[in-house]
Amino acid sequence: MEPRLQRRVQRYGWDKASGFYENSWKEQLKPAQDKLLEMIELSPGEHVLETACGTGLVTERIAIAVAPGGTVTATDLSEGMLHLADSRLNGNGYSHVEFNRMDAENLDIEPEQFDVAICALGLMYVPDPVGALREMYRVLKPGGRVAIAVWGERKNCGWAEIFPIVDKRVKTDVCPMFFQQGTGNALRYSIKEAGFEPVWIERMDVNLYYENDDHAILAAFAGGPVALAYQKFDEQTKREAHSEYLNSISEFKKGDKYNILGEFVVAKGIK
Ligand SMILES: C[S@@+](CC[C@H](N)C(=O)[O-])C[C@H]1O[C@@H](n2cnc3c(N)ncnc32)[C@H](O)[C@@H]1O
Repeated sequence: MEPRLQRRVQRYGWDKASGFYENSWKEQLKPAQDKLLEMIELSPGEHVLETACGTGLVTERIAIAVAPGGTVTATDLSEGMLHLADSRLNGNGYSHVEFNRMDAENLDIEPEQFDVAICALGLMYVPDPVGALREMYRVLKPGGRVAIAVWGERKNCGWAEIFPIVDKRVKTDVCPMFFQQGTGNALRYSIKEAGFEPVWIERMDVNLYYENDDHAILAAFAGGPVALAYQKFDEQTKREAHSEYLNSISEFKKGDKYNILGEFVVAKGIK
């Protein structure tokens, strides 16, 4: 997909998804966010850049970890996500956090400003992941740390059929490279290619819990990256796509509830 189009799909897709995001993904992404924060070992006084900050779930935890004396510059492509992040933090005593709308591949920031750069579950969506990592490298001070979390291998993510199910009903693929960075050693190579050395990687298996069919459907279709394509479906197309998706995750269902297999890859690197 042409990079400009991919960015537009992401920007406006996440605007649409923003209101459903936390109900769909907050608990499910927490293990990856916990691991990322554990690996990066933030200290009071540090200056942190976050790209693809979403609704600020990680931003808030960074803000607490770097106080007093530290700052957080949190960025995202989607106004809808940033608006929710801003409402979560500002007005709650987090005056050392600033939000800006920026593309992760093109940061409007001077070089060597930050001690730490963080991107949780955002690198799967940028057209050029190494370009985004190079941008993080550029704005870090020498010796600065980067921490990244992405989804793992397609075969280890039980919900992965959502992409072909949506893609076959639209003209262009929604997230063509979604599993690229989580496959094999790709993330390690990308982080090294951007200039970081050494790099540490951890892979983790998780279960994504959903209460019932409606919750699983909402998360996959309305609360995530296919939201823009999905909201253009007519009612009949929606019903067909829902039923195909529920079929694809049926092996993870017990009673009404789902525990869907998932995998994350979490990495740290040094400039
Ligand atoms: C799954 S959410 C992750 C949000 C947050 N980091 C978290 O852990 O909850 C993915 C985010 O990536 C953002 N995103 C997608 N493409 C981007 C880009 N090129 N530059 C910056 N953010 C982008 C989306 O707007 C969305 O908020």
